[in-house]
Amino acid sequence: MKIGVLTGGGDCPGLNAVIRAVVRKAHKSGSQVVGVRNGWQGLLDNSYIELDSKTASGILHLGGTIIGTSRCNPFKNPGGAETVIKNFRLMGLEGLVVIGGEGTMGCTARFAEMGLPVVGVPKTIDNDLFGTDFTFGFDTAVSIATEAIDRIHTTAEAHNRVMLVEVMGRHVGWIAIFAGLAGGADLTLIPERPVDIEVVCDVIRRRHARGKSFSVVVVAEGIEFTEGSGLEASKKDLDEFGHIRLGGVSQILAREIENRTKFETRCVVLGHTQRGGTPTAHDRVLATRYGVFAAEMVMRGEFGKMAALRGNEIVAIPLSEVAGKLKTVDPEIYALASTFFG
Ligand code: F6P
Repeated sequence: MKIGVLTGGGDCPGLNAVIRAVVRKAHKSGSQVVGVRNGWQGLLDNSYIELDSKTASGILHLGGTIIGTSRCNPFKNPGGAETVIKNFRLMGLEGLVVIGGEGTMGCTARFAEMGLPVVGVPKTIDNDLFGTDFTFGFDTAVSIATEAIDRIHTTAEAHNRVMLVEVMGRHVGWIAIFAGLAGGADLTLIPERPVDIEVVCDVIRRRHARGKSFSVVVVAEGIEFTEGSGLEASKKDLDEFGHIRLGGVSQILAREIENRTKFETRCVVLGHTQRGGTPTAHDRVLATRYGVFAAEMVMRGEFGKMAALRGNEIVAIPLSEVAGKLKTVDPEIYALASTFFG
């Protein structure tokens, strides 16, 4: 059997671990694997590389993706979907493992409806993909953000400052809540809960009135301010999936907090450091489990589905159940985190 593997959307620690697992499992069963270059773009351009035991070796611990990725959406190009199907056949593929987040899974579901033999693997540091308990890459991002919060703590305390740590999380605050819990944040702001700037300032004022001289606030990049506050998170260009390019809302917040409370305030945007570099052991294992399971799905012809983590089990769920939905922060986890606010 000839299997294709493709990585789409933003990169994520653990992508290479999935690729390696697909290749190893497929080779053990006598199948051949090719890596489609740069996400869906490779199927538009007929661009791919052979993934043999040499190319897919020594990559388990590496960040990024050896086959490249992009935010290309073939349904945005006239005739794009038809070109993808034509090139899939030209490459001689009999199955395709698509590793991606919500945008990529949306495309994968549409190709499944069009009859393409596809299987999904859930990837994103944001952990916002519906249908799976956890995506790989999330644990690594949380670890990086937690280390940053630990470092910010000591400098915040030394200077008696309010320090804002902005983490990724376009639509949801999973990274913010987990890193905030692990790093002992004094307040965590997430996209699921519109931010009232006066409430934020009050939490900080009360904390300082209790004798604390510093505060560490974790901010998810995708937060929105409550209506009528006169504040707006900066909205930059859109990508091919219509996603806003975020980053920098903590600068607006820092200015407001300093003006209103008179406490000296600084912010740091962690940005793509959360996506780069080596995956944690947890993510390497999860990515490997997803990869082996996805290869097995292809080989037994279980198409139109995504590998998902449910409890401690990997299961296959229909792509149609995943597409167009988001997994937001569990209110119970938010309540737990808020026990430590202030
Ligand atoms: O979707 C994952 C993510 O890391 C978001 O948290 C972030 O907003 C976005 O990707 C950044 O994308 P890009 O690399 O295209 O700037």
